Amino acid sequence: MLRVAITGVTGRMGKNLVRAAYENENIQCVAAVARPGNPSSGMDAGVLAGIEEINVTVSNHLQTCIELLDVVIDFTLPSPCMENLAVCEQAGRAIVIGTTGFSAQQREQIKLAAQTIPVILAPNMSIGVNLSFKLLEIAAKVLGESTDIEIIEAHHRHKLDAPSGTALRMGEVIARTLGRDLESHAVWSRHGQMQERKQEEIGFSVIRAGDIVGEHTVMFADQGERIEITHKATSRMTFATGAMRAVLWLADKPAGLYDMQDVLDLHHVS
Ligand SMILES: NC(=O)c1ccc[n+]([C@@H]2O[C@H](COP(=O)([O-])OP(=O)(O)OC[C@H]3O[C@@H](n4cnc5c(N)ncnc54)[C@H](OP(=O)(O)O)[C@@H]3O)[C@@H](O)[C@H]2O)c1
Repeated sequence: MLRVAITGVTGRMGKNLVRAAYENENIQCVAAVARPGNPSSGMDAGVLAGIEEINVTVSNHLQTCIELLDVVIDFTLPSPCMENLAVCEQAGRAIVIGTTGFSAQQREQIKLAAQTIPVILAPNMSIGVNLSFKLLEIAAKVLGESTDIEIIEAHHRHKLDAPSGTALRMGEVIARTLGRDLESHAVWSRHGQMQERKQEEIGFSVIRAGDIVGEHTVMFADQGERIEITHKATSRMTFATGAMRAVLWLADKPAGLYDMQDVLDLHHVS
């Protein structure tokens, strides 16, 4: 039985992660961590997640329970995630990171930590999205040089980072496949009088509205036809069960930086 800690346990994903761990017979949630000052501290994590008592009290510091567990699952914000990463590094524990919105410097820090501990960093843990990354690679190979590529994403009104980590990863997959640098080819927004679109641009559009769990479409548009690859998540449980799959995969891996393509063995599919 793998013992996990769930940080950001009061969050939308945190509660789904507690539920997914509860439903997985090979994983036991032994610690649940909330932001200091959150009123749910001291509650039972199972009750907080709307299941039943699981005898895990929501605490405020990962540091105090790190020795009890094998893997930390972090879906919080970049800054607390970096603190949790440091605790894992110090204690030699593995971490599954679902948090998004990292700066380039934070990404470098994660890479550095992965030299000493096993780390999965995945902006989207859904199996469908990770398959979409593969489909995008194929589409970009066949259509990328002749079509206009646009990435459109929609999320709930509370999401803070934009474009989503998943949309960025989609852009990276396409840019890498086409030998383009994403930063210099991405168009993040359009407004007012502009120059005509260059074919090699990769456009991003962002919608924030209501309770949309997560939708991504990549359009390869030509004269007279277009292909669209779309993924729609309708429940956060898809990310939470993906995270459990990641935890089980990571448990016996050496130090290194991995992603869901590794977990699902998709790097070998061409
Ligand atoms: N990889 C994936 O598949 C995937 C899927 C969905 C979401 N995400 C990402 O996961 C992250 C969380 O998403 P969410 O929708 O669950 O957000 P959320 O509902 O806002 O939850 C964020 C959690 O982080 C906690 N937190 C905030 N600041 C903190 C601090 N300084 N120290 C400790 N904890 C802190 C929050 O505590 P309070 O409640 O006390 O503020 C809350 O528990 C986001 O980055 C999101 O983009 C990833």
